[in-house]
Amino acid sequence: MLVLGIETSCDETSAALVDDEHILANIIATQLVHSEYGGVVPEFASRAHIKQLSLIIKEALHKAGKDFRDIDGIAVTYGPGLAGSLLIGLGVAKGLALRLEVPWIGINHIEGHILAVSADATGPRYPYVCLVVSGGHTLLLLIEEQFSYKILGRTIDDAAGEAFDKVAKVLNLGYPGGPAIEQKAMNGNSRAVHFPRALLNKDNLDFSFSGLKTSVLYFAQSLDQDELLSKIPDIAASFQNAVVDVLSQKSFRAIEKYNCTSIVLAGGVARNSALRHRFEEDCKKNGIHLFIPAPELCTDNAAMIARAGNMRLRSGYQSSFDLDVIPNLSL
Ligand code: KG4
Ligand code: ZN
Repeated sequence: MLVLGIETSCDETSAALVDDEHILANIIATQLVHSEYGGVVPEFASRAHIKQLSLIIKEALHKAGKDFRDIDGIAVTYGPGLAGSLLIGLGVAKGLALRLEVPWIGINHIEGHILAVSADATGPRYPYVCLVVSGGHTLLLLIEEQFSYKILGRTIDDAAGEAFDKVAKVLNLGYPGGPAIEQKAMNGNSRAVHFPRALLNKDNLDFSFSGLKTSVLYFAQSLDQDELLSKIPDIAASFQNAVVDVLSQKSFRAIEKYNCTSIVLAGGVARNSALRHRFEEDCKKNGIHLFIPAPELCTDNAAMIARAGNMRLRSGYQSSFDLDVIPNLSL
């Protein structure tokens, strides 16, 4: 089943084509307009989506060597995300579904992240743990069967990606912060500064990152300008190490508690190579199968939405035309 996926929940305009096995095209246009504001400006995001989306869909079709008439179904993110941005994607998806007379489905963006890893026979074995770490979410999930998501833990304040973005702002590294911190951390000592690892000694699977961010802020404020500049790699590496420590320790607690043999990492922060390496090492040591999407499938993209849509449409789900966007949709 050839599915067109559309993702416009935040600042990536993306369209993809997938069949039951392969991603045939995944075009992602990251909006650059936001970088000078240090974060996403909702109105600019909507305007950029409306300008770009049709062209991106055409580009995806061209790359896949397909025509509108080849499309068997459409999948589109309907939440969570920015209302104005989601509306552009949903409107285009409904219009196309009407014109092409094909089934369509609204996809929860978080489910898209989770299903970015192929769930075929070579994929994770049920029950498995999934750690979703993005700019908006930090969730530990138990997935016992297809489309069933039990929340084991979540952040009680900032999301992991949000912490990367805020710390990058403190260090004047620009937006988005994750890639910038990762880059700086490569030349730093991850043990140079000891930052707190919140909730590690609590017997739950929740996370907290706002204290860590504040610690970095206070540490940076205690240095003069030259000192701060010279210590940025060490601060970045030490901060990153604190985040990775907590994410990995809590994930392994969940794996143990629920007797799982597979774990999936998902979301934009799963692009981070320190996080990927730590999970690779820890999984190897403990005999756990690790699944992480390719880097371009971790951050927002339409292939993950198309994949989730392909699986859901083939399982008999579809949406009706009165579906609206839900900006605060939960899993
Ligand atoms: O999943 P995503 O693209 O969007 C949301 O659904 O939120 O995640 C974006 C988040 C941002 O906070 C960004 O800073 C973070 O993922 N991120 C990273 C890296 N690449 C993106 N964080 C750490 N290291 C990275 N390499
Ligand atoms: Zn996302």
